[in-house]
Amino acid sequence: MTSDVENVEIDVARAADVLRAGGLVAFPTETVYGLGANASSPDAMRRLYAVKGRPSDHPVIVHLAHADAIDAWAAQVSDHARALAAACWPGPLTIVVRRAAHVLDEVTGGLDTVGLRVPDQPVALALLERFAGGIAAPSANRFGNVSPTTADAVRSELGVDVDLVLDGGPCVVGVESTIVDCSGVANGDGDDVAILRVGGIAREQIEALLGRAITLHTTGDGARRAPGTLASHYAPRARVELTTGDELTQRVADATAAGARVGIIGLRDAVSQAGGVSAAGGPAVDDVCVLVAPRDHDEYARVLYAALRDADARGLDVVIAVPPSDEGLGAAVADRLRRAAAPRP
Ligand code: TXA
Ligand code: MG
Repeated sequence: MTSDVENVEIDVARAADVLRAGGLVAFPTETVYGLGANASSPDAMRRLYAVKGRPSDHPVIVHLAHADAIDAWAAQVSDHARALAAACWPGPLTIVVRRAAHVLDEVTGGLDTVGLRVPDQPVALALLERFAGGIAAPSANRFGNVSPTTADAVRSELGVDVDLVLDGGPCVVGVESTIVDCSGVANGDGDDVAILRVGGIAREQIEALLGRAITLHTTGDGARRAPGTLASHYAPRARVELTTGDELTQRVADATAAGARVGIIGLRDAVSQAGGVSAAGGPAVDDVCVLVAPRDHDEYARVLYAALRDADARGLDVVIAVPPSDEGLGAAVADRLRRAAAPRP
């Protein structure tokens, strides 16, 4: 009998071999599951884009085993970038820096910059150590879909198109990394640091680390190359509608009166205020169910994507969600809910 630890080691060794052979490996991170490829192989990168169904001028994040590796992938790393890496890695922060000369156009989407991240997840770190190179990995969903936070969600999303799925259990953060541009290239307005995507590290924490306010550049031209910042993204099949705690009861009544099967997502306080609905995760009552009712913003982030997938598994027509306030991880949750609710192109 082999132990679980030995099994993980065997799987990680096989996964590193698959990456070396140009294959695709889905692996857990603390944020969401990634679809990994050897960042130094143009062929592997082309396969990654094909499976992901993503336009080839969109850049992907390179995952590294140690903060020390930053200089192998970046050029002219600013003090801000070093300070953030030292404080937040391993962790849910992607730092955009000027790229080193060898970094492939297939990785950067032809940009002069590269996004780097050291994930805080033991299986991911074991894989990165074993592979001993950069692993390019977008979230392991098809372009535009909800990111997977479990190995099962990856399998149902990608099926046989992925060569190996490493199972590290459910992701503990649940929303993608925060992306901070420290390259000075993309911001346009002369600001040397900007947040391109809100995510697993709160803006307040980054501002505290750098000792000043940081601009958000999460929409518009600067975000053109960042698909996670497109207006419509992270969307389930069910239509997503946003409301407030005060209006929740009425919105649910309107939707069911129109014949829709409805799932509710909101903080516990907002949902219990609405009343008349079944317990979280319980069976549907009168075509209404509460998909999740998290207690706080961190839990909201952790359960959001599984709840959106659950809505589709239950064949619901509409998800009515009450976004949290922007405090802490609430900003990332509210951002993803807004994009999930945006009209599709
Ligand atoms: O938490 C995460 O970041 C997950 C896990 C797997 O690490 N990855 C992830 O990757 O969310 P993806 O590809 O789904 O989203 C990465 C975002 C994209 O919006 C991409 O355009 C942006 O990062 N990005 C990557 N490199 C960039 C660069 N050089 N400049 C601007 N944006 C960049
Ligand atoms: Mg993604």
